[in-house]
Amino acid sequence: MTTYALLKTLHMSCAALSLALFLLRAVPALRTQPPTPPRVLRVLPHVIDTVFLLSGLALATTIHQYPFVHGWLTAKVLGLIAYIVLGSLALKRAPTRAGRAVALAAALLTFAYIVGVAMHHDPRSWLAQVG
Ligand code: HEM
Repeated sequence: MTTYALLKTLHMSCAALSLALFLLRAVPALRTQPPTPPRVLRVLPHVIDTVFLLSGLALATTIHQYPFVHGWLTAKVLGLIAYIVLGSLALKRAPTRAGRAVALAAALLTFAYIVGVAMHHDPRSWLAQVG
């Protein structure tokens, strides 16, 4: 396996883990009285998300394509920022249950959008295949 293939596997594994860890916190946060997450669920996501971002940047550097130069990577970075903001609303910043539920749904849609951008190398995401 090449270094690039290893980095890509790492990046995709981190994407899956990041989403799973987010859901493990966001679903309990929908309760009327959200529980305090266990310590592992407060620390591990930061570790995974750091490796996730660094592996994405390493992949981009390897293929000489960069955010704010190539549209699909700009879309990924802007999408990532939206996902982080929506995630933070879903986990605690939204004051009501309904607000947290809407933020969770929007965060999941944003994540799906970014995966589509990654697979098509196109800011149109899943719509790129329609032409
Ligand atoms: C929530 C955020 C992100 C998600 C869900 C995500 C997801 C993915 C996925 C699923 C792939 C594999 C696509 C394929 O099938 O070929 C991928 C590849 C890649 N990602 Fe990300 N990514 C994210 C953030 C980033 C960021 C912030 C960067 C860089 C600034 C980045 C750079 C790349 C690069 C360069 C590839 C390799 C593309 C290729 O070799 O075809 N990603 N990403």
